[in-house]
Amino acid sequence: MSRKKVILAYSGGLDTSVAVKWINETYDMDVICYTCDLGQGQDIEAIRQKALRTGASDAVAEDLRALFTDYFCLPSLMAGALYEGKYPLATALGRPLIAQRMVLLAQEKGASAVAHGCTGKGNDQVRFDVTVQTLDPSLQIIAPVREWKWTRTQELEYALKHNIEVEATKKSIYSTDQNLWGRSIEAGILEDPWVEPPADAFQWTADPRTAPNEPEEVEIGFEKGRPISLNGVEKDPVAIIEELNQIAGRHGVGRIDHVENRLVGIKSREIYEAPAAIVLHEAHREIEFLTLSKDALRFRTYVSQAYSDMIYNGLWFSAFHQDLMAFVASNQRYVSGVARVKLFKGHCMITGRKSEHSLYRHELATYEEGDQYDSSAAQGFIKIHGLSQTTQAKHQMLKDMGSHRMELPSIIPPK
Ligand code: ARG
Repeated sequence: MSRKKVILAYSGGLDTSVAVKWINETYDMDVICYTCDLGQGQDIEAIRQKALRTGASDAVAEDLRALFTDYFCLPSLMAGALYEGKYPLATALGRPLIAQRMVLLAQEKGASAVAHGCTGKGNDQVRFDVTVQTLDPSLQIIAPVREWKWTRTQELEYALKHNIEVEATKKSIYSTDQNLWGRSIEAGILEDPWVEPPADAFQWTADPRTAPNEPEEVEIGFEKGRPISLNGVEKDPVAIIEELNQIAGRHGVGRIDHVENRLVGIKSREIYEAPAAIVLHEAHREIEFLTLSKDALRFRTYVSQAYSDMIYNGLWFSAFHQDLMAFVASNQRYVSGVARVKLFKGHCMITGRKSEHSLYRHELATYEEGDQYDSSAAQGFIKIHGLSQTTQAKHQMLKDMGSHRMELPSIIPPK
């Protein structure tokens, strides 16, 4: 009988390189390495070659940037998904796609297991495992780093003993993950939430002090909630995101410092760099302010929160996601137009917006000529709008006071 096979999510780093050998030895399986390009800016073919040198029986690398953008980043943008109002979810969005591709590869190659290099403390293990268990419950899941419980020194000794290439460059003092939608940085000195992130935590964004002294404006065009153009030129969304990461990053835009609630019950301090995601969320929201009704906007806030929790918690392949997505698709049908934002020294400011579906009507808003708003209707409206409050004051609060004077509502305890 031939040896069993496992698909390992392979980054080329120390953990997953050691994992190749460790799985060989511990589980007696052939390891097929899987690497994908989500726009993290690595040479995936070089990583594939390294996998083969490290002892993988086979290695697959593929470019998923378009798939990742169309099926993950853009839906999250359209849903306004920022976890706890801050984090654009780059890492969280990547996991279900990687896991899904690994399941497909396992089925194609006749593998009986999949493996990943996540620790037992983070969210990523949850996202991987839940996705795999959902898509193919027959697959065994192996998580070497979660299982071997080594110190870093023990891991290095193992690598040395087995002739595993250890990067000559000093390993980053942070734990990082990156793709088109952003870069996540954690651990090291960042574990102290009082400490300002040192300059070396950042790679994509300029220190605002050294960013250009002149602001730069960009115009982003949207069609039904999707970005379709940059500065008047139609482009595919991968190109828009990649360019915006450069432009906004140069101006120091996109730094996020977040003490977040992990799914596994702990709070952790995370730094993110997400220049394109931040600019796109800002611009997109402005087109929504222009084109969504007040009720649609209010309700969208709930949906955004549910959507971001769903992504963060790794429940991408749930029916609930499909329900939310159906709402988002419908809710975005008039979200078309152009937003102009100014990038300057770490700030991203909206300076203009326009849409053919705009609900901002000059003929209603103007104080100048051409006013079509019926001001005479305002008085009656105000009477009815305030009726419950004026009634209550008359029959309860003013009456109670005896004096017919109402105190300022206050939370300051009386002296
Ligand atoms: N806290 C973020 C999340 O859960 C980022 C995780 C980053 N992963 C990493 N290997 N540094 O999505």
